[in-house]
Amino acid sequence: MRILRLNLAQLRCFESLSIVPAAGINLLQGANGSGKTSVLEALFLLSHGRSFRPGGSQALIRRGQLECTVYAELDEGSQTHRLGLARSAHGWQARIDARPVSRLSSLLVHCAAICIEPGSHDLIAGPAEFRRRFMDWGVFHVEPAFLEAWQNYRRCLQQRNSLLRRNGDSAQLAVWEQGMDGAAVRLDEQRRAYLGRLRIRLLEHLARWLPELGAPMLRYQRGWAAETALIDVLAAHRIRDREQGHTRQGPHRADWLLGFEQAPERHQLSRGQTKLAALACLLAQFEVFRELRGATPLLLLDDLAAELDATHLEQIVSYLQNSGAQAWITGTDFPSRCQPGMRVFHVEHGTLRA
Ligand SMILES: Nc1ncnc2c1ncn2[C@@H]1O[C@H](COP(=O)(O)OP(=O)(O)O)[C@@H](O)[C@H]1O
Ligand SMILES: [Mg+2]
Repeated sequence: MRILRLNLAQLRCFESLSIVPAAGINLLQGANGSGKTSVLEALFLLSHGRSFRPGGSQALIRRGQLECTVYAELDEGSQTHRLGLARSAHGWQARIDARPVSRLSSLLVHCAAICIEPGSHDLIAGPAEFRRRFMDWGVFHVEPAFLEAWQNYRRCLQQRNSLLRRNGDSAQLAVWEQGMDGAAVRLDEQRRAYLGRLRIRLLEHLARWLPELGAPMLRYQRGWAAETALIDVLAAHRIRDREQGHTRQGPHRADWLLGFEQAPERHQLSRGQTKLAALACLLAQFEVFRELRGATPLLLLDDLAAELDATHLEQIVSYLQNSGAQAWITGTDFPSRCQPGMRVFHVEHGTLRA
């Protein structure tokens, strides 16, 4: 898939902006604070419905304005769609081909963007939430039944949590626990199948990027005790869960962990190794999407040169050139000459020129 045109309005430092990118590699060059990352952020919004930067969605709206919008013409291979996304104090509003859609997920399913940015190392070193989001984004895009299972689960979980806090009785709790159990089994299966696919691609990348660490291991944790049905775990933990005011086990606590023969724990990796491991995970995700969906996601690479040494940088650029993906790369300057098929954009304090 590729973006044919991207328009932004009132997003971060941009009052309005229109970009016609190249099908291949697009380089966004500019000083610190000129707005490069914000362009990638806009593309990421179309695929994730949230930013990769902290600060919440309201922070995306240009200071003094009430609403920001992102509009993109997306070539999906067999068809082209016009995707529109607006953010205001009332939340998100999505449109496909000028028609409003009630669920943000209906828009997100069209666009897939894999983003490698300075915060990506959280995928390895950060809390479980980052890894769960990464995994679930991947499952969402390749398994159509995932969203419904996840929404069912979340609804039952919220009801159970609310009963725990209101001191609801066991019979009431049991109703929601049963609902959670059914959805949990499906979520677990879907996540397991996805990680199985991811593992194959990931091991290839890790062998190439981090050979010094020896054999990698990917461990999945489903979020509740092994060999026990969730319904039994929940029933057995009602008293403790009541004390805590929330449900402490279930697929909302799932995680996956990466370890290596020479560095079984993640804190044993250097910062550079952590970044490369995260890069391997993201490229594996890119490939699994392409394999299962038959479409190539966008690749967004923020401040790449600041993140990687020269050898790895060269490797990733050659990977990009062979990937067939539309890539968007930001940097303060690009020392090598622009190659055929690349387009360079100069970003300056909220304006941009090709
Ligand atoms: N909500 C906002 N309203 C106005 N300006 C903003 C807002 N959020 C961020 N900015 C400004 O937008 C600029 C662009 O930031 P960023 O995209 O991170 O730049 P770059 O990646 O080029 O360093 C910064 O100068 C920042 O202060
Ligand atoms: Mg930046």
